[in-house]
Amino acid sequence: MSTKRMIWAALALCASLTSAAMAQETAQQQDLDARVQRFLDEHRRQWRDANVPEADGRVLYDLVLQNGYTRALEIGTSTGHSAIWIAWALSKTGGKLITIEIDEGRYRRALENFEEAGLSDFIDARLADAHELVPELQGPFDFVFVDADKDWYANYFRAVLPKLEVGGCFTAHNVNQRMRGIREFLEVLEATPSLETEIVRASRSGISVSYKRSDG
Ligand SMILES: C[S@@+](CC[C@H](N)C(=O)[O-])C[C@H]1O[C@@H](n2cnc3c(N)ncnc32)[C@H](O)[C@@H]1O
Repeated sequence: MSTKRMIWAALALCASLTSAAMAQETAQQQDLDARVQRFLDEHRRQWRDANVPEADGRVLYDLVLQNGYTRALEIGTSTGHSAIWIAWALSKTGGKLITIEIDEGRYRRALENFEEAGLSDFIDARLADAHELVPELQGPFDFVFVDADKDWYANYFRAVLPKLEVGGCFTAHNVNQRMRGIREFLEVLEATPSLETEIVRASRSGISVSYKRSDG
């Protein structure tokens, strides 16, 4: 075979191997999508541990997917409803979620849910007090969701902001509700010039979505 033909044959082989690998990847993602969807359908009426409503889960999923975020942090896992929405989006962007829960029973239930949904590989679940762990985490992060003790939201924000990438987004649950700590947290957001904040009201809880626009 001439050298030219050998090069063409090698290129054709590479192209067919690449398209076979891509087809396999698509099939794997489709299998995962079906598994997560089935899990969410089966558990739709079974979230009883202060979990986010489905509408808010979808907001988180869309934010991660549309912005292509890959390094996510969640504070307040509970039994894992919001983490499942975030991790599902991360399964498509090639990312991973660190999620923190202080209650051992909820943490263990969350691990079971992640396994059942097929998302364990995309989640690093920690059983810890976020007051201590969050300041120790190295980052950087490009997506943060806070849904733990509301009167600590402002402290979580201060600890995470330096580790949030420009273009990244800090989100917080229940900002539409009268809970201790929420007003102070919203004031801190407003006083931070590097942020652009909107409140998404997909449910009555409300989610603040703050994009970091600069390092200042
Ligand atoms: C509103 S629930 C989270 C719901 C969860 N995001 C979901 O949608 O499934 C708040 C959780 O934060 C946890 N939490 C409260 N204080 C915490 C702390 N200091 N460190 C870690 N987790 C904490 C609680 O145990 C509770 O499970």
